Amino acid sequence: MSRMKPFVTIAAVLACGAIGGSLLRAAQTTTSTTTSDQTTWSGVYTEAQAKRGEALYADKCSSCHAPDLTGLDQAPALAGNDFNTNWNDLSLNDLFERIHISMPGDKPGTLSRQEVADLVAFILQRGNFPAGQAELSTQAEALKGIKFVAKKP
Ligand code: HEC
Repeated sequence: MSRMKPFVTIAAVLACGAIGGSLLRAAQTTTSTTTSDQTTWSGVYTEAQAKRGEALYADKCSSCHAPDLTGLDQAPALAGNDFNTNWNDLSLNDLFERIHISMPGDKPGTLSRQEVADLVAFILQRGNFPAGQAELSTQAEALKGIKFVAKKP
């Protein structure tokens, strides 16, 4: 009987760890949604980053979404009213993840986080959102704190 005790203890520790982990995740999620004080109008990327994104876009996206981002056939526009309406009020992490997981349409999942951040910077630039002093982050927590706001405040 006493030989069982260490196992019980380990199980209890593991259980607490699992609960603690999910509480921690819940706390992080709450923090990121309540601290979203930045928007697409705050200057959340740099010109240099958008320039890198432009080269990537020409290479990996323009064949489907058109060189001027107006879309072709099945591929929707990545700038303009329809695009802005689709993403309005969502976080840049949502747009980031959409691209990271599902694009390019013919080779999904092949872009690095840095490439996706650069592409989002280019898309924002073409959407006439202003550039700023700091590059757009590749980190989900930071991206969650930036809201896509279609209308200029
Ligand atoms: C082979 C064609 C193809 C390529 C290449 C491609 N896309 Fe797409 N993209 C699509 C299609 C089709 C859709 C809509 C249906 C879907 O989601 O699959 C789409 C949807 C999207 C959307 C969602 C738009 C919205 O408002 O809902 C984004 C953002 C996007 N693509 C970005 C990119 C980026 C950035 C690249 C380059 C890395 C890229 N795509 C390359 C075909 C493509």
